[in-house]
Amino acid sequence: MSFRLQPTPPARPNRCQLFGPASRPALFEKMAASGADVINIDLEDSVAPADKATARKNAIAAINEVDWGRKTLSVRINGLDTPYWVHDIVDLLEQTGERLDQIMIPKAGNGQDIYAVDALISGIEAATGRKRPLALEAIIETAAGLTHVNEIAAASPRMVALSLGAADFAASMGMQTTGIGGTQEDYYMLHEGSRYWPDPWHMVTTAIVAACRTNGLLPVDGPFGDFSDDAGFRAQARRAATLGMVGKWAIHPKQIALANEVFTPSEEQLVEAREILAAMDAAKAKGEGATVYKGRLVDIASIKQAEVIVKQAEMIAD
Ligand code: COA
Ligand code: MG
Repeated sequence: MSFRLQPTPPARPNRCQLFGPASRPALFEKMAASGADVINIDLEDSVAPADKATARKNAIAAINEVDWGRKTLSVRINGLDTPYWVHDIVDLLEQTGERLDQIMIPKAGNGQDIYAVDALISGIEAATGRKRPLALEAIIETAAGLTHVNEIAAASPRMVALSLGAADFAASMGMQTTGIGGTQEDYYMLHEGSRYWPDPWHMVTTAIVAACRTNGLLPVDGPFGDFSDDAGFRAQARRAATLGMVGKWAIHPKQIALANEVFTPSEEQLVEAREILAAMDAAKAKGEGATVYKGRLVDIASIKQAEVIVKQAEMIAD
């Protein structure tokens, strides 16, 4: 381990981030009543240009008037290349109280993007006297975002999470696909006449997880577009969970239970994690650094792996 210890990410459930366009206020109460841990009211790509101003007003009213319970409440602002983002931030911060927890920055390209948003927010917070600093999350969904992912994660103490935005990422990279996440038909290996389909999102997912873990942020898998394909969603979410992500977006209420199912440690995983911790306690008491659990090696690294699962379960149960 480096001299500098790996920072701990925010202790909050983040299994599912539910999106809804701010131009559809009829959805807000349904979102608040849902099983999602995080709510993302969208001002960006699900809102048509002609609706941007009304959508912003709707979002402000929703933050002030809807009972969001204990959910983390976030608004996805428009990108820094648009005429909307400055007003998004100014209006949201000046016209809502402390209930808004964070702002999501789409298409983050480098650390300066985050710095600029941080500077604007800091100025408004100083003027309005907001007590709790607004948190930031960003989407890695461009070639520049991937290139500068660690710089983005490290750019501000406000940063709490990074998500992978598969569709914009694919477009920015020039990938030949119109799917939003999941298996890509033409991305296959051929072995003795049989095809199998590796994961084209593996590299960017791992890059996001590494940047998040280095800086104490939550890594989150973004949207899965085909909301009629439960098996496809589960497969994508399980790959993301296996690679270290803590949750996934839902772009339709059908996907909330699926995300919660995948990102909540199962009873069997929890029992096994606790048994590994007990086995290692017993080993340590005998002065040993490694032991055998169910026929396989467990050692000091296994303690950390098991603790990730136990901590996650405890936080969700809280
Ligand atoms: N949050 C909460 N409830 C939602 C919802 C959402 N995002 N999307 C749909 N619902 C509700 C509907 O109002 C409907 O409720 P009802 O049973 O009380 O009538 C129910 O869930 C079923 O909805 P359905 O008819 O299948 O979907 P739709 O045609 O109304 O909307 C989408 C489909 C995809 C347009 C809509 O889900 C949506 O806008 N999703 C978010 C898109 C987004 O924010 N994208 C940006 C991030 S990639
Ligand atoms: Mg996008």
